[in-house]
Amino acid sequence: MAEDKAIVLITGANGGIGFALAALLMADPHKHVLVGSRSAEKGQRALADLQQQGLPGSVELVVLDVASDESILAAAKQVEAGHGRLDALVNNAAIGSPEGSRAEGMARCFQTNATGPYLMVEAFAPLLKKSTRTPRIINVTSGAGSVARRMDPNGPSYNLGMWGIQYGASKAAMNLITAYQAVVYGEQGIKVFAFSPGFVASNLGAHNTVENGAQETSVGAAPMVGIIDGERDAELPRNGFLRASGQSPW
Ligand SMILES: NC(=O)c1ccc[n+]([C@@H]2O[C@H](COP(=O)([O-])OP(=O)(O)OC[C@H]3O[C@@H](n4cnc5c(N)ncnc54)[C@H](OP(=O)(O)O)[C@@H]3O)[C@@H](O)[C@H]2O)c1
Repeated sequence: MAEDKAIVLITGANGGIGFALAALLMADPHKHVLVGSRSAEKGQRALADLQQQGLPGSVELVVLDVASDESILAAAKQVEAGHGRLDALVNNAAIGSPEGSRAEGMARCFQTNATGPYLMVEAFAPLLKKSTRTPRIINVTSGAGSVARRMDPNGPSYNLGMWGIQYGASKAAMNLITAYQAVVYGEQGIKVFAFSPGFVASNLGAHNTVENGAQETSVGAAPMVGIIDGERDAELPRNGFLRASGQSPW
């Protein structure tokens, strides 16, 4: 079924930007999208929704909780058994504002947003190395994780105090993990990117609404299609992460 297609795994693709990216990729008959979802039920609904859209690409569900090492390893086994390789991995799953104490919130953000993408790449690198194309990884980051932005007295993040600090710190940690992956896996032929979709309406936080000026999910997701298709290979990150156009400093 998927032998001649590029196989793309998106974590957290049952909703938000990940779901929009799955639909955009399925507009291409040469793509097979693995929809990652930590909930089997939500994943089945997303799968049915995508299949009903009559898109030419194909799709499959992978139940995958990036906060669980066991779940990540089981997902890698499923993809290996089904396809024997992976062509692109999009580490999209994240949480915004977890409940609980400060310590719990910080730990949960780091587990999902930083440790998750780290463990995902360690588990899926052997399959990416078996890609029949140029394999690519996209770590979905955020301006909230930019140290340069946080320290810019003229920017919007300078006076935020503790607001968003758990999420932002975890994305900054993911940026460093991206740097590690870009060097180590870059030498092994895998192109590694960090990309920020900008302010998008989603379930990430209560303020992520169109009324607050957020863009549609498909607008935030669209540039990742070009990254997966190799259109931005000349922009591999050195001093920052990719945006819809250009880069922002780490
Ligand atoms: N929206 C923005 O303005 C914005 C800006 C910059 C960066 N981003 C980044 O864009 C990415 C997508 O966010 P979004 O805006 O689409 O948010 P969203 O609507 O909340 O979607 C997040 C997705 O991640 C999943 N997820 C959460 N924890 C998970 C886990 N442990 N394992 C697997 N999946 C998990 C969620 O699943 P459930 O449905 O089960 O919760 C959901 O499918 C994130 O990396 C986010 O940081 C977003």
